[in-house]
Amino acid sequence: MTATTPLPLAADLEGGLRRLKLASMRAVAPQLLITAKTQRWTPEELLRALVETEINARDASNTRLRSKQACFPMVKTIEEFDLAASSIPAPTWAYLTSLEWIRAKENLTLVGPAGTGKSHTLIALGHAAVTAGLRVRYFTAADLVETLYRGLADNSVGRLIETLLRNDLVICDEVGFAPLDDTGTQMLFRCVAAAYERRSLAIASHWPFEQWGRFLPEHTTAVSLLDRPLHHNNVVATDGESYRMREARNRAGGRPTKT
Ligand SMILES: Nc1ncnc2c1ncn2[C@@H]1O[C@H](COP(=O)(O)OP(=O)(O)O)[C@@H](O)[C@H]1O
Ligand SMILES: [Mg+2]
Repeated sequence: MTATTPLPLAADLEGGLRRLKLASMRAVAPQLLITAKTQRWTPEELLRALVETEINARDASNTRLRSKQACFPMVKTIEEFDLAASSIPAPTWAYLTSLEWIRAKENLTLVGPAGTGKSHTLIALGHAAVTAGLRVRYFTAADLVETLYRGLADNSVGRLIETLLRNDLVICDEVGFAPLDDTGTQMLFRCVAAAYERRSLAIASHWPFEQWGRFLPEHTTAVSLLDRPLHHNNVVATDGESYRMREARNRAGGRPTKT
């Protein structure tokens, strides 16, 4: 053992760092001062280490905050996604995970049966976007419509939509789980129109476009809702069997299982 127990910072430095709200720098400075001395760092190296510590801590804290604000219902990541088990073509996946489409303010629509990885994809991409410094907000269609309805009550739908569009990516999952009424659909239209070419929207539905009439009010179609966004839209079909069903069957060695 050497005499390298860090000494507390001098009171003026401690107070100064506290006042400047450089908490991480303050925390590591005693140890870094010793390391710098024993390893004969140049003054610049020491300053760099202190600055990097503070920047890394702030970036991490901002990411945590954005992640909280995104309201993801669970954690899903790109790494956890088994592309081989999905019908999403590898080049499409590469483009989506590059997040370039969000920077280009394009949209994404995922359509496919239950259990084929739509929510996983949306959340994983959202998570990656948050990590890359982008702002994201996840909704189910029902939650989004409910939020807009609340705005209707106090005449703040416009403001609500503007606030929503401060996000780089707005995710609307589970479109078509519940039928939409006229007012809900109108407000959704407004949202989609306001986002056009300004922000990215990512939507998932288990209904193919031609069946959107099943949950939209009469005289409304997927085209009327998505007409404009379809210009800059990446439509991705997630076909096949439910991932969980397949996993359960594989576990059971190919025999049908009860789950
Ligand atoms: N290709 C995949 N790789 C890894 N996990 C997957 C994949 N597809 C689906 N899953 C998992 O299967 C479950 C159901 O997928 P989910 O994304 O909720 O389906 P959907 O939203 O299309 O109904 C989730 O736990 C998800 O993480
Ligand atoms: Mg889903």
